[in-house]
Amino acid sequence: MTFRAALIEQTLERGRVQDHEATLKDLTQDFLDGAGGDAPVDIAVHYSGINYKDGLALAGKPGVARTSPLIPGIDLVGEVTASADPSFAPGDVVVLTGGGIGEAAHGGLAERARVSAKYLVKLPEELSPRRAAAIGTAGFTAMLAVLALEHGGVRPEAGDVVVSGAAGGVGSVAIAVLNQLGYQVTAVTGRVQEQGEYLRHLGAAELLDRKDFAEVGPALQKRRWAGGIDSAGSATLANILSQTDDGGTVASCGLAQGHDLPTTVMPFILRGVTLAGINSVTATPELRAQAWARLASDLPLELLDEMTQEIPLDGVFDQAEQILAGQVRGRTVVNVTR
Ligand SMILES: NC(=O)c1ccc[n+]([C@@H]2O[C@H](COP(=O)([O-])OP(=O)(O)OC[C@H]3O[C@@H](n4cnc5c(N)ncnc54)[C@H](OP(=O)(O)O)[C@@H]3O)[C@@H](O)[C@H]2O)c1
Repeated sequence: MTFRAALIEQTLERGRVQDHEATLKDLTQDFLDGAGGDAPVDIAVHYSGINYKDGLALAGKPGVARTSPLIPGIDLVGEVTASADPSFAPGDVVVLTGGGIGEAAHGGLAERARVSAKYLVKLPEELSPRRAAAIGTAGFTAMLAVLALEHGGVRPEAGDVVVSGAAGGVGSVAIAVLNQLGYQVTAVTGRVQEQGEYLRHLGAAELLDRKDFAEVGPALQKRRWAGGIDSAGSATLANILSQTDDGGTVASCGLAQGHDLPTTVMPFILRGVTLAGINSVTATPELRAQAWARLASDLPLELLDEMTQEIPLDGVFDQAEQILAGQVRGRTVVNVTR
C-alpha cells in the first residue's frame, strides 16, 4: 500500500544546498522504517501546515532540511494507528509541532507519519484537528511568547504591547490572544493598507509601519512598550528593545528581517528590560501541554478560522514561495487527504 507525501531530495555540500528537488511522491510504508526511534508512533495524518520554516525547506534554502530524502512539514495532526509507546493508543487524536520533524526527521506533509512520542500531545477536547493544525507551530510559538511575557510580569494594565510581523502566522495568533487577555496591542506591519482592517479585526488597537523599525535607532528611545513579541529580529527587535519601558519583557521568536541583533546593553542595564528567547522546537512536554491548554482557552476560535486558509497537499510548493515572499496572511492548513 502506498501513501502520498511531499518529498525533498537534495545534496548538501559545506552547508550549501545542491540538486534540490521537492515533489509529490507515492511512497511505500517501508520508507518510514527506522523513523520515530525505539518506540515509534504511527499516525494517519489529517492535516499539516505551511510555516515560514516549511517554506525555506520546500524552496531549497539551507538550514532546515538536514537529511535527504526528507518528508517536510514541521507540524502534523492526525490519528494514532499503532504505538510502541504506552502513552498513546490507536484512535488517539494527536498534534505534533517541531521536535525535529520536517528538519532532521520525516514530517507531516504526507498521509502517514511515524514519529517519536516525546513531543506528541493529545489534542485538548476543545480543539478540532483542523483548528489544531491552524494553530500549528506558529500559533504554538505565539502562545509560548505570551507565556514568556506573563512570566516576565507583563500584565495588561502595565501598558501597550507591540507585535511585529503582525500579519504573519505568529503575529496574527499573538494579536488575537493578547487582545482576548485584555492587552492593548500595537501591530507592526509592512502591509498597513492591505491588512490594516484584518489586524484591527484580530484585536490590534494601533498599527505602525514596519519601515519605522527597519533602521537601527538610538540605544535608548522613548518608552512605549510594556512588552513585545517579535518575529522580525535585526533592527526591528533592536528598536523594540530600545523603546521598552522599565522592567518590560520582549520575546524574540523569529528572523523575518534578519538574524542579526544590532543593539547595545543599554535597555538591559538602564531599564532592566528582559529579552526572552522562544524555541518552539524543543519546548518540554510540560510546557507543550500548558501552551496547548492555554490556546484552547484563550484563542478566540472564530478569529482563528478567519485567519486560516486551507490548501491541498499538491499546493504546498506554490505556498512555500508565497510565504517566503511575505505574501501569506495568517495561517495555512494543508489537508493532506485532499
Ligand atoms: N522560535 C521559534 O520556535 C519559531 C517558531 C515559529 C516561527 N519562527 C520564526 O518566526 C518568524 C515568523 O514565522 P511565521 O510562521 O509567522 O512566518 P510568516 O507567516 O511568514 O510571518 C512573518 C511576517 O514577518 C513580516 N516580515 C516579512 N519580512 C519582513 C522584513 N523584512 N522585516 C520585518 N518584518 C517582515 C511579515 O508580516 P507583515 O506583512 O505584517 O509585516 C510576515 O508576514 C519566522 O522568522 C520564523 O522562522 C520561530
